[in-house]
Amino acid sequence: MKALVLCAGKGTRLQPITYSLPKHVIPIANQPIVFHIIKKLVNLGITEIGLIVGYKQEIIRQVVGNGVQLGAKVEYFVQEEPKGLAHAVKIGQSFVGSEPFIVFLGDNIFEDDLSNLVKRYEKEKPDSIIILKEVDEPQRFGIATMDGDRLVKVVEKPKEPPSNLAIAGVYIFDERVFFAIDNLKPSWRGEYEITDAIQALIDQNLIVKGEILKGKWLDTGKPEDILDANQYLMNKLKGLYIHGDIDEISVLENSVYIGKNSKIENCKIIGPIIIGEKCFISNSSLYPNTCIGNNSKIADTEIENSIIMKNSSISNIKGRISDSIIGENVNIHSPDKIGTIKNECKMIFGNDAVLICE
Ligand code: G1P
Repeated sequence: MKALVLCAGKGTRLQPITYSLPKHVIPIANQPIVFHIIKKLVNLGITEIGLIVGYKQEIIRQVVGNGVQLGAKVEYFVQEEPKGLAHAVKIGQSFVGSEPFIVFLGDNIFEDDLSNLVKRYEKEKPDSIIILKEVDEPQRFGIATMDGDRLVKVVEKPKEPPSNLAIAGVYIFDERVFFAIDNLKPSWRGEYEITDAIQALIDQNLIVKGEILKGKWLDTGKPEDILDANQYLMNKLKGLYIHGDIDEISVLENSVYIGKNSKIENCKIIGPIIIGEKCFISNSSLYPNTCIGNNSKIADTEIENSIIMKNSSISNIKGRISDSIIGENVNIHSPDKIGTIKNECKMIFGNDAVLICE
């Protein structure tokens, strides 16, 4: 089975980060979101992956390459205009041909290994099978109504939801979905909705089944979702993995990963923490769920529950930086530890931002 991973979206709810990066490469537990998805597919034995790209596609191509480092074979297909998920799936038609295929939204993280989905598809041979998850705010999602294990109705972002079973961004289809997409009309938001294509399959009396997820589903649409997903994956880190140098006065607690050629001097590091390669962390305290990207420098600063991307530098900050997402090549400093940041401070910065606290 081949896979299509949809990575063309603009990620407007994640601006300003997504002004400079497509959301699919934002690091969660120090790995781009799309790596987590490709790894999940490879674990399912699905290695031929078509990435549908558009917005800032050159960055996705650079980060993922041909996928070989993840054990996959990745090809790229371009969605020129953001015309919706069904339109994106249609662009992958030449890649998947007439065989059944799996579709993954490129910004969703799952606890389950999803092997049950593929097993059920192969055993029960429905026409299509879709992952569902019970949610608290069904108005925000595509919502399914079931009869037994069969979907009888799906509706996109209903004002009055008929159930709390959300369509959670993983679908197995065969080529009939392409014919359904060909006949779609744009929705109220001007997009060709994959939910409408599913409804068209149901209307043809095809068997569309639902697989209800037991584990966590993290849809990384907003900054707080990114931090939640980071926290969730960081809590999977167990043990000490020290590939860099730590001086004798630094204190490490709980699970910590320190990458190659990184140096830690006079620090308190309370895991779960991931520090990438070639970082220099001095006179600082890092508190749980903080990730520091490669080649970053932290001095005289406290950070908690935050993502600091690669090549960034933070120094002499008096208060604690918490619940923050800080892009690549960012520079935050105060001339001599007189920074105006008092107590806790939350920052959401895109790439190349500069903040000087005088
Ligand atoms: C899309 C789908 C929706 C699905 C959701 C899952 O919504 O249209 O059916 O429930 O992804 O993340 P969007 O993220 O485009 O609002």
